[in-house]
Amino acid sequence: EKVIKIGLLGLGTVGCGVYKILEENKESIQQRAGIRLEVKKVLVRSLDKKRGVELPEAMLTTSLADIIEDPEIKIVVEVLGGVNPTLDYVLAALNQGKSVVTANKDMVAEYGEQLFAAAQRNQCDLLFEASVAGGIPIIRTLKQSLAGNQIEEVFGIINGTTNYMLTKMTQEGSPFAEVLSEAQAKGYAESDPTADVGGFDAARKIAILASIAFNTRIPLSQVYTEGITKITVDDIAYASELGYMIKLLGIAKARSEGVEVRVHPTFIPKDHPLAAVGDVFNAVFVRGNAVGDTMFYGKGAGELPTASAVVADIMDAARDIVRNVPGIIGCTCFEKKPVLDIGE
Ligand code: NDP
Ligand code: HSE
Repeated sequence: EKVIKIGLLGLGTVGCGVYKILEENKESIQQRAGIRLEVKKVLVRSLDKKRGVELPEAMLTTSLADIIEDPEIKIVVEVLGGVNPTLDYVLAALNQGKSVVTANKDMVAEYGEQLFAAAQRNQCDLLFEASVAGGIPIIRTLKQSLAGNQIEEVFGIINGTTNYMLTKMTQEGSPFAEVLSEAQAKGYAESDPTADVGGFDAARKIAILASIAFNTRIPLSQVYTEGITKITVDDIAYASELGYMIKLLGIAKARSEGVEVRVHPTFIPKDHPLAAVGDVFNAVFVRGNAVGDTMFYGKGAGELPTASAVVADIMDAARDIVRNVPGIIGCTCFEKKPVLDIGE
């Protein structure tokens, strides 16, 4: 029987979800992957905190070395968030020859180049499906299922928190601060929710999607970004009178002169499919020159939807380790394409 041991960095919303799925779906995961996956150690900040899952006390540690320096641990799952100290932790794991699965769009969007180089150098997988659109398998789709296409555009609702907020503001007329607190309580929001409401989380995600779709690198600084902080219940009501809904969209288009990438609130006609995407759901449209129009829909945040994507990546990384081919599918060679200045 093949067994792969996992080190989990973080046991918050997503970390608990990953642990739960690996436990609850243990048998079907083993059948599908042909490998038994076992969490060996979990890094946290506080050993005393009450957790959303029950696990043996000895499994928790506050020392990264317990994971990074354990030769039995082959896959490190990073669900801590942020860049500092997370980037150093992930680089340390890759440099120890461990494959890494992460849900961290901040880190991938800003430091992807450095991380992929480390993964390639060390022949490890670096997989990040959960970093964009929670449970929707959009990264795998762009990298694999639509790989034969030239992608012309990718756009959609890619932040669950703001979509939840705009939906509640539209349907119930609830004020901004109240719906933001609700999204935080449900575990949808980032630890600093400014990233959600300011559009920065969506900017990181569209930068990641556009980089993969157009085989380039999109620097975050070149993504025009406007969030929903100025949107009021009155704006939503006026839009509705005119036949529109307001949605925060991430948009990336290939133009002959370069690539256009932006995030901003957008008027959507009420009969457009995106207008029906409510609550914490996300939806991503992709137009390829061979496939035509495609649309992907699902929960964009939350414990189990996000963990669903993380666990699929863990299974892929485990298969690659067993077949001795890590680092081959996970990394891509990018060519630099100009990013167009959208202006204000
Ligand atoms: P949480 O804040 O709920 O959990 C973070 C966990 O990491 C906690 O267990 C915390 O420990 C631990 N941690 C943080 N910093 C350190 C550190 N320096 N050393 C040791 N442990 C640390 O975050 P989420 O689970 O919501 O998010 C995790 C990642 O997943 C983020 O990158 C986020 O952007 C991404 N993500 C989240 C989604 C969601 O719906 N929540 C969806 C998609 C991606 P302790 O508990 O002891 O404080
Ligand atoms: N805060 C993010 C969101 C989590 O609301 O979409 C999922 O990436």
